[in-house]
Amino acid sequence: MCGIIAYYGDELAAPILLEGLKRLEYRGYDSAGIVTIDSKSEFQIKKDIGKVLEIHERLNLMDLEGTTGIAHTRWATHGGVTRENAHPQISNNNKIAVIHNGIIENYKELKAKLISEGFQFSSETDTEVVPNLIEYWMRIRGLDFVHAVFNSFQSLEGNFALVVLDRDSKTIVGSKNGSPLVLGIGQNNDFFLASDIPAFLDKTKDVVYLYDGDTVIITGSSGAKRSYEILDFRTGNPVDRLIQSVSWDIEHAAKGEFDHFMLKEISEQVETIQSAASQDREKIQDIIQRIKKARGVFLIGCGSSFHACLSASYLFSKLASFHVNAVLASEFSAYEDFLKEDTLVIAVTQSGETIDVLDAIKTAKQKGCQIVSIVNVMGSSATQFADESLFLNVGPEVSVLSTKTYTAQLAVLTLLAFSLAGKYEEGLRRLKYLWNIVYNLTAESMRIRIKQLADELSSHDHIFVLGRGSLYATALEAALKIKEVSYIHAEAFAGGELKHGPISLIGKGTPCIVFVSKDTESKILSNAMEVKSRGGYLIGVGSHKIDTFDEFVKVPESEELNPISQIIPIQILSYQLAVILGHDPDRPRNLAKSVTVR
Ligand code: AGP
Ligand code: GLU
Repeated sequence: MCGIIAYYGDELAAPILLEGLKRLEYRGYDSAGIVTIDSKSEFQIKKDIGKVLEIHERLNLMDLEGTTGIAHTRWATHGGVTRENAHPQISNNNKIAVIHNGIIENYKELKAKLISEGFQFSSETDTEVVPNLIEYWMRIRGLDFVHAVFNSFQSLEGNFALVVLDRDSKTIVGSKNGSPLVLGIGQNNDFFLASDIPAFLDKTKDVVYLYDGDTVIITGSSGAKRSYEILDFRTGNPVDRLIQSVSWDIEHAAKGEFDHFMLKEISEQVETIQSAASQDREKIQDIIQRIKKARGVFLIGCGSSFHACLSASYLFSKLASFHVNAVLASEFSAYEDFLKEDTLVIAVTQSGETIDVLDAIKTAKQKGCQIVSIVNVMGSSATQFADESLFLNVGPEVSVLSTKTYTAQLAVLTLLAFSLAGKYEEGLRRLKYLWNIVYNLTAESMRIRIKQLADELSSHDHIFVLGRGSLYATALEAALKIKEVSYIHAEAFAGGELKHGPISLIGKGTPCIVFVSKDTESKILSNAMEVKSRGGYLIGVGSHKIDTFDEFVKVPESEELNPISQIIPIQILSYQLAVILGHDPDRPRNLAKSVTVR
């Protein structure tokens, strides 16, 4: 994720853009930049690495002329955190500036084609192909700016929100395809485009929510009255969108219509699972080769990240008949005698700074092992130690609770498991299709349904969770979510373990959540019956209601992808329990977002 803001009006653009960037930093902040068009129709650009205010202190981002400009705060996905890779990205002829949120999956092929046409590139980003594509269609193929933009956008594959600034025609074009972009209609015939409404909420509450394909064209050069129109870049046809007025105010800004980041980040999973699945295919193949050549593969992590490792270990076995060892990073030193130069350690860590994971990586490196890291934060310590890294691409997770990063880790690991089985395309297709299910699971109607369940469970001191196979890892994650944010004791058991002791805990009315999937149904339901016969209160999570259940949350069957979809209702349940019990879901007691001390 990243933050995009654009302004077209009569006021100086730089102060408005800087304020907007500050309000969007929760979406990404490894680097930032602003470009405006000055009175001589030249670009004025300032960009650098670091957070927005740090860059402002160094470069004075207010000191840019012009009343038209675009700005970006980056969460890198392609190309390291460097000044050259910061946005805006500029065309070779210095006439087109672009800022981008998302991933252009076919950028390598487009880049090669542009290089064959004589273009040169100064960054490692996927984004830089866009301004040069537009220049190509204008300078070499003779199209006007808007048609050149349409042709360029039509050639892109992947998720993107793009805003383009043309120096000569002084036109701004903004479009979305899978990543968010919203149009703000100012009070003085001025216009805003942004990734999220908070960026311009102090200027206007009148917004136009854009849909995939919508392309906003804002013009006003040569003194003509400024105006905007919306066309679909895929067809060129006009699109009619309502102007709506938002009700919430600035202090709720970064959380949008949500009261807490935790719920906002749960809701972002419609977008973030797609972003996580959009990996560089060559990098995936490289890691698959490392896995195949390795004599022993360890998946290591802590907390939710460990649960993702455990879940993946079932999937590697089921899909690729491949054994991997899922080990708690804090327990990894017990295995160091096994480690050899051809051992592969895959470190799964959202922050990339968890000290137990870094200690485990250092132990492995001392033994000569290969290290792959799966992280959310580019440039984090784990990526510096790793031979190769995959990035979650989900933007900062502000809440202490791992929600969108957990399902993103599962998405990346699932893609690796499918790829290892020679089914990369199927895995990608299945992950992309999942958004339909996730969209419904994070909808308002589901939140209302889960709130009723939370009201029932909030008075209990103990909640148990059952699962089998990869859904045992889901049960562990569910129990962690509940306990860490509601402070209710929650404990997970592998279904088959219940009768080996824990069943003594079940009394009349003891709530027990049961994850059910097609391949575990018969066995997990017999475990559920053991709970029921001792007076337990069953909450089923699965594709169809079973009479035994006292409560039921429907999650359509996704087979190997069940661990991604089935955790979402329990993420919401955990959130609702915390709110009912008066806890801050974003800052649970005693917890830190990244455990950087032993
Ligand atoms: C889970 O909700 C917690 N945030 C915690 O268990 C977390 O998953 C763990 O500390 C690992 O963090 P990491 O992914 O940044 O390494
Ligand atoms: N893929 C682009 C880059 O890495 C945009 C990343 C973002 O959404 O911030 O620069």
